[in-house]
Amino acid sequence: MNETHFYTRRQNLLERMEEGVAIIAAAPHALRSNDTEYPYRQNSDFYYLCGLNESNAALVLIKTGMETKTLLYVEAYDAEHALWNGAKTGLDEARKRFRVDEVRDIADYPEEIKELLREHVNLFIDLFDESPFLAQAKSAAKELRETRGVKRHIRSIRDVTHLIRTLRLIKQPEEIETIRKAVAITARAHHEAMRQCRAGMREYQLQAAMHYVFLNSGAASEAYGAIVAGGNNANTLHYVDNRDELREGELVLIDAACEWELYASDITRTFPINGKFTAPQREVYEKVLDVQMRVIEAIRPGVKRDWLQKFSEELLCDALIDLGIVNGNRDALIEAKAHKKYAPHGIGHWMGLDVHDPCPYVDVAGESLAFEAGMVMTIEPGLYFRADDESVPERYRGIGIRIEDDILVTQSGHENLSGMIAKTVADIEAACNQQ
Ligand code: GLY
Ligand code: MN
Ligand code: MN
Repeated sequence: MNETHFYTRRQNLLERMEEGVAIIAAAPHALRSNDTEYPYRQNSDFYYLCGLNESNAALVLIKTGMETKTLLYVEAYDAEHALWNGAKTGLDEARKRFRVDEVRDIADYPEEIKELLREHVNLFIDLFDESPFLAQAKSAAKELRETRGVKRHIRSIRDVTHLIRTLRLIKQPEEIETIRKAVAITARAHHEAMRQCRAGMREYQLQAAMHYVFLNSGAASEAYGAIVAGGNNANTLHYVDNRDELREGELVLIDAACEWELYASDITRTFPINGKFTAPQREVYEKVLDVQMRVIEAIRPGVKRDWLQKFSEELLCDALIDLGIVNGNRDALIEAKAHKKYAPHGIGHWMGLDVHDPCPYVDVAGESLAFEAGMVMTIEPGLYFRADDESVPERYRGIGIRIEDDILVTQSGHENLSGMIAKTVADIEAACNQQ
C-alpha cells in the first residue's frame, strides 16, 4: 500500500463531503493494567485515510467550495519518549512520507483547531469517539459561536464514519492484495494446526502453533481472539478459554486468523483430533460443508445480502431435516426459523480493516445492499449440538461444526480467498495425517 492509495481515499471522502471540516482522531493507547498497555491498534477509519499507525495524531480535511485542504497533526520528536519507547514518525519524516497539504505538531492542535473551524458550518466527526481532539473541536466551535464578528459557525455536527465506511465497503486492488497476504499466512497456520494436533494436547497448544506461524511470518497480531474449541466446547460460540484437553474421538473447531497491515482474515476449520472423522461427525460435517459451498456458489454482483441470509437459513433447515433433528412441514419450519436453535448466528459479515467491518448492510431506505465487485464477506455456516441437548439424536450430541471462508465478490461472480485451506473430508484427513 502506498501514499497514492491513501491520498485517493482522502480525495474520495472529500468529494462525498459537503462543505465543512472533517476530523478523524488516531486511537489512544489502551491501558491493560496499572502501567502496562495492550498492543497498540489504530482506529481503522483513521488508518484507512492516512496509513499512520501511531497514537496522538489527528487528520483534518477541510472543504471550502471547490477548495480542499488536508492537514495531518502528529507528535513531534521527543527525546524522552524516544529513549523509553522509540521515536515516533515526527514532523520531518511525516512531511516526507505523507502526501498531505501540511503536517503540523499535535501539541498545537488545541490552539489551531478554532482557526480551522472559523466560517465553517458543518463539522464531520465520529459522533461516538471520545477522543479529546474531538471534544476540543466542539469546544472551539462553541467559542466561535460566541465570538463577535464570526458570521458563520458550526451548526451541524455530522457522522463522518458512514461516509468512510461506505468507501471501505468496496475494497480496492491494494486492499484485496493485503487481505490475500493475511489469508495466506492464516492458511499455513490452519494446516500447521491440523498437522500437529494429537489427542492429549491442550487447546492452547494449537493456538500457540498457529500464533507461531503468524509471528514468524511477520503478522503482528491475531485479527481477533482465537477460538480453539475441542468437542462440546465448540457449542459455546465465543469460546476463548482454549485451556481444555483435546480428546480422542472428538472434533476441534478452530476460528483463528491473523491481520496483515491491519487488514483481517477470518477463517474457521473443524477437524477430527485424531485425524479421522467418525460416521456421525462426518454426516454433520458434510451437511455444513454442503450449505457453505451452495451459499458461496450463489454469490455474484446483484444478489442481495438479505436474500443470501434467507437462502442459508433454508439450507440449514434442510440439513436439520435430513439429519432427523427437526421434523415437520419444510416451509413451516423455515418460516418458524427452526434452524436458530442449532445455528444461532448469521451467515457472515463484511471483512476488511476490521474483522467485522462496520460497513453498511442496507441503503438509505433500509433496503438490503446488493453485492458489488470488491466487497469481501465471510461465509460461515455452523451447526451446534450441545452434549446435553436431548432434542438431538444421541449420536450427534456434543458435535459443533463451523466452516468459514473469506469471499471476494468479483465482476463475474466471486473468488474464495481462503479456498486453498483443506475443507473436504478427504483433504482435511490428509492434512491431519501429514508428518
Ligand atoms: N471470528 C469472528 C467471526 O467469525 O465472526
Ligand atoms: Mn466471521
Ligand atoms: Mn471467524
